[in-house]
Amino acid sequence: MSLLFVLFLLHITTVAADQLRPAFYSETCPKAESIVRDVMKEALIREPRSVASVMRFQFHDCLVNGCDASLLLDDTPSMLGEKEALSNINSLRSFEVIDEAKEALEKVCPGVVSCADIIIMAARDAVALTGGPDWEVRLGRLDSLTAKQEDSNDIMPSPRSNASLLIDLFDRFNLSVRDLVALSGSHSIGQARCFSIMFRLYNQSGAGRPDPSIEPKFREKLYKLCPTTVDQNVTGDLDATPRVFDNQYFKDLVAGRGFLNSDQTLFTLKQTRTFVKLFSKDQPEFFEAFVEGMLKMGDLQRDQPGEIRRNCRVVNSRHEHILGVLREKLIF
Ligand code: HEM
Repeated sequence: MSLLFVLFLLHITTVAADQLRPAFYSETCPKAESIVRDVMKEALIREPRSVASVMRFQFHDCLVNGCDASLLLDDTPSMLGEKEALSNINSLRSFEVIDEAKEALEKVCPGVVSCADIIIMAARDAVALTGGPDWEVRLGRLDSLTAKQEDSNDIMPSPRSNASLLIDLFDRFNLSVRDLVALSGSHSIGQARCFSIMFRLYNQSGAGRPDPSIEPKFREKLYKLCPTTVDQNVTGDLDATPRVFDNQYFKDLVAGRGFLNSDQTLFTLKQTRTFVKLFSKDQPEFFEAFVEGMLKMGDLQRDQPGEIRRNCRVVNSRHEHILGVLREKLIF
């Protein structure tokens, strides 16, 4: 093989957001979307919370260098990845569901469907399978060749964040106040750890007191769930109906029953409160805004080299990479 040919093979593909499109796999892997949905259905039956955990991957992947499955890479001796970043360690879970989807896809159409796209399909499925809206996703993403813990630490918001910080953060990604409030509605399903609310219960703003915006009865409930001596990995529901994707989350915020500070804060600032009120009264309006937000967030891309990983946890070997490029450039 000539050096030039090898260089040609090693030319790593990049993809821009405007190249993403619905039905991307209709020729190359027509069953891709139904395979992912089946895996999510099984996950939902096995452990209902797992679909919420998988849905969260979209947020944590897409905000950090675009939706490129960098989140899924395990650490290596030369690379500290995102899994142990501040917002992810001891918190992100259910990576095995993505592994199952990938294995099922590799059996039917090897080397075709990216892990980054699996996250996007699975997040949509989590919502649809728990009673929320269903929508068409744009596909065609590539998987990153690397990941960096620092990048996640620098970007992902803490549960202590207040509404103005969240507005500014989302704005950096071209996500509006409406997007922020609607996307926070993802906390309509799933759970969080006591760890994420201890400061809120016992030392909000360093004053040794609880956050005054917590409704008193709910506060008592949280004190019982998370006493000062608690194992901080104990979890509580993010809203009153944690297995159903609905607008209960917003009704809870109106009643001062938001679990995280970053949730309840959306009811303290006028700009965000307007949307919280709207979504609490109008579920279809929430669903519409949520879908728009997920599509916008799913379009976040950085112009960087990528590949279709064989295993979502590790970058392909050089050998696999050459095979992948051969398939893409010469066979199809
Ligand atoms: C607005 C800023 C956000 C903040 C500050 C935030 C923060 C958090 C925190 C602290 C937890 C619980 C972690 C733990 O205690 O282990 C959590 C859980 C969760 N987050 Fe967010 N989040 C935000 C936005 C989003 C978005 C945009 C999505 C998805 C579109 C999302 C989806 C979820 C889900 C589904 C869970 C529950 C996961 C489970 O049960 O395993 N979050 N979030």
